[in-house]
Amino acid sequence: MQLTINIADQLKPRPDETNLGFGNIFTDHMFNMDYDPEKGWHNPRIEPYGPIEMDPATMVLHYGQEVFEGLKAFRRQDGAVQLFRPKDNLKRLNRSCKKLCIPPVDLDFTLQALKKLVEIEKEWVPGAAGTSLYVRPTIIATDPFLGVRASYTYRFFIILSPVGAYYAEGFNPVKIMVSRDHVRAVRGGVGDAKTAGNYAASLLAGEKAHREGYTQVLWLDGVERKYVEEVGSMNIFFVIGDELITPELNGSILPGITRDAVLFLAAAWNMNVSERKISIDEVMDAHQSGALREIFGSGTAAVISPVGELKYGDQVIRIGDGRVGPVAQKFFDAITNIQYGKDDDAYGWIEPI
Ligand code: COI
Repeated sequence: MQLTINIADQLKPRPDETNLGFGNIFTDHMFNMDYDPEKGWHNPRIEPYGPIEMDPATMVLHYGQEVFEGLKAFRRQDGAVQLFRPKDNLKRLNRSCKKLCIPPVDLDFTLQALKKLVEIEKEWVPGAAGTSLYVRPTIIATDPFLGVRASYTYRFFIILSPVGAYYAEGFNPVKIMVSRDHVRAVRGGVGDAKTAGNYAASLLAGEKAHREGYTQVLWLDGVERKYVEEVGSMNIFFVIGDELITPELNGSILPGITRDAVLFLAAAWNMNVSERKISIDEVMDAHQSGALREIFGSGTAAVISPVGELKYGDQVIRIGDGRVGPVAQKFFDAITNIQYGKDDDAYGWIEPI
């Protein structure tokens, strides 16, 4: 397949790097590619960023047949740009495709196209501390049809957004509320796929949490509403005594790439680390007994995000006096040092541009 490149005549002004926020600003170009059953994936092109015109009957608008990814490009101190674990994101994209009956993309070709897009937009990769270029590959069902079936045609696009911290709190501890009334996903569903509906399903509980002053929702399992699953924008870790615990991947939890990086580093550092079921009662009991030392989330957008307060029903617990714990700090430093090229890429996680 030949990648066509059409450079925009007019380039946008660059934003203030010290005040980026998350997901508001988009670069000059995007990648597009189409799918139909005769040609397969075809017409890959990098072209000026712009709207996608759609028939109002387009299937993704009605039934949410969509998958997406989130990864980042970082600017090193020497000015070079590098991606963090892009192959892992693209493999997960194809796993999500399978769950949503979307034809998979060619991993090698897609990686090359993604790298070319980031190369063209290299000047958009911010250099200020804590900033990066967020990469959002997305596939949508494009048949104009109202019957419920898998679409025959699709559009794959990649857009880029210079970003700062995902949470307004930055690396300061966030407040999280456990949802008792709502569930995000159940086993056998699409909770382990990165697809729009999971996020739509999280909105109502998220709004309730915000009204009570909490940043995010901590989801429990959809069957017993007993075991901790994930936060929705990140996976979750607990430090209880000397054990680092994260819920095991059970089919309804998103297999996070940053989660995987934390587990890998924990094993490399010979930590006592478990992927296992952990009930919310165990967490609350561990707090009671003084054994709960830290809670933190992991995600591409959030990186490592310490949790300073957790609300479950009427109980509110404070973790670590509102300060960043040493374990969260250690993972944050190790991962961001590799991402920004301050430390060597000992694990093959970096893809240079
Ligand atoms: C990410 O961490 O990349 C995510 O996709 C979380 C959220 C922004 C949807």
